[in-house]
Amino acid sequence: MSFEAVIPHRVTASVDLGAIRHNLQTVRQYAPDARVMGALKADAYGHSAMQVARALDGELDAFAVACLEEAEHLSEAGFRSPCVLLEGLLHQEELPEAVRRGHRLVLHAQWQLDVLRAARPGARVPVWVKLDTGMHRLGFEASRAGELAAAVDAMPQIELLGWMTHLANADALETEATDRQLACFFDAVDGLPGARTIANSAGLIRYPEARQDWVRPGIMLYGASPLEGRSAEQCGLRPAMEVRSRIIAIREVSAGGAVGYGSEWVCAEPTRVGVVAVGYGDGYPRHARAGTPVLVRGRRAALIGRVSMDMITVDLRDCPDAKVGDDVLLWGGGLPAEIVAEHAGTIAYDLFCGLTNRVRYLYRDD
Ligand SMILES: Cc1ncc(COP(=O)(O)O)c(C=O)c1O
Repeated sequence: MSFEAVIPHRVTASVDLGAIRHNLQTVRQYAPDARVMGALKADAYGHSAMQVARALDGELDAFAVACLEEAEHLSEAGFRSPCVLLEGLLHQEELPEAVRRGHRLVLHAQWQLDVLRAARPGARVPVWVKLDTGMHRLGFEASRAGELAAAVDAMPQIELLGWMTHLANADALETEATDRQLACFFDAVDGLPGARTIANSAGLIRYPEARQDWVRPGIMLYGASPLEGRSAEQCGLRPAMEVRSRIIAIREVSAGGAVGYGSEWVCAEPTRVGVVAVGYGDGYPRHARAGTPVLVRGRRAALIGRVSMDMITVDLRDCPDAKVGDDVLLWGGGLPAEIVAEHAGTIAYDLFCGLTNRVRYLYRDD
């Protein structure tokens, strides 16, 4: 169905599945020899895991989700690509279902290893062993890799897929911390059997040595830049999501007039103020600062006043033709989500994941 054929809705998130496919091609250009575990967790970063899985089934070598619950819908749909549970088991009770579905588990903590050791799952459980190389979130102490390899080898219920680590600073300009993590990982797994996987989006773009047997892109599949100081376009990515609303009222506010809750914004001169039907109740960031850009009929206008639950107010002084009913682009296309996020003190990931069920999603697959 074309976007145009849809009855206008208050707030829409239009997702271009073709752009996501293009972004996967870009991943493959950066890492042509790697297999790709695409991050579809958090409902594919708010883009709909079902839609993205359908678009990329068989093209992605695996779907990475956070946990069993997230994998359930995907496995029920019978996709070919297997699911990897990045947090592994959250409770030991999950093991039988994970085995029944053939999910791949990330093993990152002693208690998970103990659960597997005690289990007689009836089938070998495919496992990535995660090592902590400096992020100090999930993973076994890297120095334990050799001992873990021996432990896993002695457990016929486990099939070792390989070794995983996660980079804490791959998106930052400085490289020292990442270089240290890479060295720690390579040192730890030297000579051990199994595949290797290190890189998220930032890692796979910036660090060629992080492009190992598998890469794990997330944000770049959705077309946002994972890197400080480099745009999505410069990374060869196309934004997949466009979020839009409309102007529902225009007010002429005189000099000295205050706009919105808390009367925080005071007009320095007579100002045409557009009221746009979107707010934090839709997932527009509540902390977006005055000056956050939106595009009104393709022209830039700045947010003024506080974001309310259902509305925002924008300065239309540079958009003299703007009228009630005009389309307003909140992010996507010519207005990267990264820029909007920066104005709100957050990241594009957060904007994508934060859209609420009040937003109508539309899908295009060119
Ligand atoms: C373990 C792991 N791998 C890969 C990713 C994908 O990261 P990104 O979206 O930055 O590419 C994530 C996301 O947080 C992750 O937790």
